[in-house]
Amino acid sequence: MDLPSFISAMPKAELHVHLEGCLTPSLARQLARRNSLPLPPSLSALDETGSTYAFHDLTTFLQVYYPNLSVLQTSQDFADLAITYLSKAHAQNVKHCELFFDPQAHTSRGVPFPTVVRGYQAGIHVAQRSLGISASLIMCFLRDQSAEYAMATLMDSLPFKDIIIGVGLDSDERDNPPSKFAAVFQRAAKEGFLITMHCDIDQPNTLTHLSQAITEIQADRIDHGTNIVESPELIATLKQRGVGLTCCPISNSIVTADFKGAEILSLLRQGVRVTVNSDDPAYFRGYINENMLKLAEGTDVTRRELIQLQRNAFSISWISSWKRNHFLQTLSEFERKTLGLEEEGAGEVKEAEPGVGDEVVVNGA
Ligand code: ADE
Ligand code: ZN
Repeated sequence: MDLPSFISAMPKAELHVHLEGCLTPSLARQLARRNSLPLPPSLSALDETGSTYAFHDLTTFLQVYYPNLSVLQTSQDFADLAITYLSKAHAQNVKHCELFFDPQAHTSRGVPFPTVVRGYQAGIHVAQRSLGISASLIMCFLRDQSAEYAMATLMDSLPFKDIIIGVGLDSDERDNPPSKFAAVFQRAAKEGFLITMHCDIDQPNTLTHLSQAITEIQADRIDHGTNIVESPELIATLKQRGVGLTCCPISNSIVTADFKGAEILSLLRQGVRVTVNSDDPAYFRGYINENMLKLAEGTDVTRRELIQLQRNAFSISWISSWKRNHFLQTLSEFERKTLGLEEEGAGEVKEAEPGVGDEVVVNGA
């Protein structure tokens, strides 16, 4: 089996994808027409044949990303966005997804919180029923907005705990450290939400932010976070607590000068629970298979290690033990079928310590 077919056939979990980052130009055009709205400027600048957006780092990416969301108005729009992504994920053999969404990118322009969540929830239900794919929502706070606005958003989310399994932190990291939101995450943990947060690539004070996320906020996962490779102490804490990283090679290559393959592989070989994901696939032009392939083609990662990346993803996913065991068994069967039984010690990847996720049973998951 060639490498793209091997990656494509592998059962996978997607733990780092922004629903708003799945808004393709063609869906955005459809929604603009349906809602009788003008196309946002960066979209009107794209031709229909798929020229690319203009951005070169996180800040300039976000300047394109948020204005495009103006086409999302009704619950049906949000449902369609979720269905479009989940259909693509299903076609790439993704079995389970944990989907980020940014309610403040919508409430700040007058779309009510329930319109957003009910829409995404309806889309997830349709995809679950028609495709059998498993999915849940992670609500992200915009870190360049105030902690008070994040707290108010947390309060808005309380009636939706059946579908929102955790909370995260995204948007522009510069001058917006995790500690700014310590009280919000403390309350979220009290309310039973699991916690993840972006520690984006090569940001100023990146190790301080990682340390705050891991030790002060006690995050259950970190999104990106590959700069942790610079700190043996933080790696030791991460492993001891079983905290996983959701890495996104294509996104890295677009918002920084490098896809960070060497760093991801180094962490994997040190026994950190790293995973490979898509981030904002409509903008970065790569879903999970293309991200796995990017890593595989740019490093000497073995096929068993590619499977280990997915074993990590199912292990750190926020699903019931029953579901986790089922997915892990399916992955082991795939490994046996494609690579045979492993020779003792050959291609060995050190097992991470058991940690968060192992015992997590999530409502509705
Ligand atoms: N929002 C959407 N994609 C993001 C990313 N890669 N980093 C921070 N915030 C985001
Ligand atoms: Zn992200």
